[in-house]
Amino acid sequence: MFAAYSFVILSLVCAASCKDGFLPDYIEPCNIKSENFTECIKEQIEITLPKFTKGIPEMDVPSIDPVQLSNIEIDGNGLNLSFSKAAMHGLSDSKLTELKVELGKNKSAETFSLAFKGNMSLTAQYVVDGKILILPIKGSGDALVKAQGIEVWIEAKLNHHKDDNGEHFKLATPKYRYTIERTTFDLKNLFNGNKQLAETTLRFANENWQQLMDELSPPAIKQIVRTLVKTINKFFSKVTIDQIIKGYNDDKEEN
Ligand SMILES: *[C@@H]1O[C@H](CO)[C@@H](O)[C@H](O)[C@H]1NC(C)=O
Ligand SMILES: *[C@@H]1O[C@H](CO)[C@@H](O)[C@H](O)[C@H]1NC(C)=O
Ligand SMILES: *[C@@H]1O[C@H](CO)[C@@H](O)[C@H](O)[C@H]1NC(C)=O
Ligand SMILES: *[C@@H]1O[C@H](CO)[C@@H](O)[C@H](O)[C@H]1NC(C)=O
Repeated sequence: MFAAYSFVILSLVCAASCKDGFLPDYIEPCNIKSENFTECIKEQIEITLPKFTKGIPEMDVPSIDPVQLSNIEIDGNGLNLSFSKAAMHGLSDSKLTELKVELGKNKSAETFSLAFKGNMSLTAQYVVDGKILILPIKGSGDALVKAQGIEVWIEAKLNHHKDDNGEHFKLATPKYRYTIERTTFDLKNLFNGNKQLAETTLRFANENWQQLMDELSPPAIKQIVRTLVKTINKFFSKVTIDQIIKGYNDDKEEN
């Protein structure tokens, strides 16, 4: 995601000329030969993350805050729960917590891993029917799921891809894992608006949030990671490696 930094600046400043992959002067790509190469990349991602996630319309890069999710359906364990029109908010406020880049040494075994942490919330239309453990739950309406302290680690291979402009990075075979500190559910209109029933059940659901999240978070996180990787790769496809990493191809550079 270090590339994101360049991407944002690039698109803000040179909407037209950037088609050719021109980078404005003040972008300072990190030098792979520098001792603190990783530090440099980390710094750039930190600066960029909030802007990048908001999208760059000039370059057809969609906002990933919110991330629009396709429908999530849980069906089993006596509980049917579906979310439609789901959107995950909060990526742009998340913080980079870890970064590791393995670059240059063996160009066919390069990797890029990072972790980010934040508070995110999911908005959706829900339909639920069944039981949470022992308590019946039934209803449909607006859902707000707040996941506090959600941290996601992503590790991917950095493949190379050549086109007319040169050589580009491409994240491949991303693997990920995540942890969540706490989740609260707010499901409006449970039991057709019967407040007493709804309150009891919601309180129970929130006390047993882990149970629900075991089902709910895997499909949601999977989609978030996929969207993020896709967006980063869109950036990579527009800039060459030489433009974003100084000294990467020193052996064959003309200047
Ligand atoms: C990298 O190291 C140089 C020299 O040691 C230092 O001046 C610079 O601030 C460092 N940059 C980062 C991002 O740590
Ligand atoms: C570079 O990585 C590839 C793929 O993992 C491996 O097959 C190859 O042996 C590595 N080369 C060196 C010099 O380590
Ligand atoms: C998430 O929310 C908690 C509790 O409100 C807060 O202490 C924490 O700083 C927040 N984390 C981030 C990354 O915003
Ligand atoms: C859940 O949905 C399935 C069909 O997808 C249905 O057979 C089952 O009875 C439903 N269970 C509950 C508790 O509504």
